[in-house]
Amino acid sequence: MTISTPLVRIPPSIASLGDYEPLAREHLNDNAWAYLSGGAADEITLRENITAFDRIKFISRVLRPLNSASTQTRLLGQTFEAPIFLAPVAHQKLFHPHGESAMALGASAMNTGMVLSTLSSVSMEEVARVSSAPLWFQLYFQPNREATRILVERARIAGYRAIVATIDTPVSGMRNREQRVQFHIPPGLEAANLRGLPGNSSQQPVIGAWNARPGSVLFGSALDASPTWEDIRWLREQTSLPILLKGILHPADAVLALESGADGIIVSNHGGRNLDTLPAAIEALPAVAAAVAGKMPILFDGGIRRGTDILKALALGAQAVLIGRPANHALAVAGAVGVAHVLKILRAEMEAAMSVLGCASLDQADSSILWSPPAR
Ligand SMILES: Cc1cc2nc3c(=O)[nH]c(=O)nc-3n(C[C@H](O)[C@H](O)[C@H](O)COP(=O)(O)O)c2cc1C
Repeated sequence: MTISTPLVRIPPSIASLGDYEPLAREHLNDNAWAYLSGGAADEITLRENITAFDRIKFISRVLRPLNSASTQTRLLGQTFEAPIFLAPVAHQKLFHPHGESAMALGASAMNTGMVLSTLSSVSMEEVARVSSAPLWFQLYFQPNREATRILVERARIAGYRAIVATIDTPVSGMRNREQRVQFHIPPGLEAANLRGLPGNSSQQPVIGAWNARPGSVLFGSALDASPTWEDIRWLREQTSLPILLKGILHPADAVLALESGADGIIVSNHGGRNLDTLPAAIEALPAVAAAVAGKMPILFDGGIRRGTDILKALALGAQAVLIGRPANHALAVAGAVGVAHVLKILRAEMEAAMSVLGCASLDQADSSILWSPPAR
């Protein structure tokens, strides 16, 4: 498929990531909107992911040399222009007719890393064809190991440079917003990577279908297929690609990740979509960083809405961040151009903050840039 990007003009009224959100609402129907914007239950964690950043303050530094300042980042032997990735988000054709292909074009325009979901509505091979951005593949373990192995091998052959195994979703969260609109994948839209896999169906189960089962709501059925540490050790043997585990909040799990052969982790509460009243992801980051003690890279997601949020995450122990909903708001409003615009805004905000904080490079963005008032 060739993607033609029509000339989209971004109105000057869009100055921040938050400006895209109300416009995205106008572009999406209730079904897609509930899926994109909702979180688990009362959405306390979803809100906290964002408001927790507001409580963290910087302290500025002056007169430091800033010539040849840079946001370059090295991760897993790969060099990135900025410590920003597009998070894996399933079913992006719900938000834009070209879905993940348009997302990848936006990433390519800004040379930004993108993590493609197992549940993408465009196949991983097709996305790789249209993209010049560094691509990583997000893996949901399949009930059948052979299917999981095939996905990982296909990703390697298609040029994906890392596997991001998401391990925080044994079952889909209790997302009341989705339940209220009876969220469904519309006809004609499918999880393209799963087509033809042994023991799999590319038509995802409808969320809320558990309502109809007798007996235990979840145990013994959906959970039978959920992965364990044993599966991570198995995955390690299947591929030479770097493996990152996405969805770690507990420091003890970070240590187990190291022991299981993972090359990195992503501190994340899945954007507040899985279990409500988990802590804000940024609140969980410092203890995980202390447990990892620099032995592997830590990425972070959940609630990043400003370039300054990225610096706060770096200061608390992350090496890079991922952006979920805001990139998809921009995708809905302005396709690939919107995605590139969001990435550009984040970079500009980050660079402006670095200059006031006196950071010429990201390794200077450590805890010393954060304001911690003395205890009284
Ligand atoms: C609509 C939607 C779909 C998502 N699908 C996936 C997915 O397929 N795989 C995955 O690992 N995470 C998925 N996530 C979680 C994101 O990768 C990321 O952890 C989260 O969105 C970060 O929070 P933010 O939206 O506040 O940036 C999804 C998130 C959203 C909003």
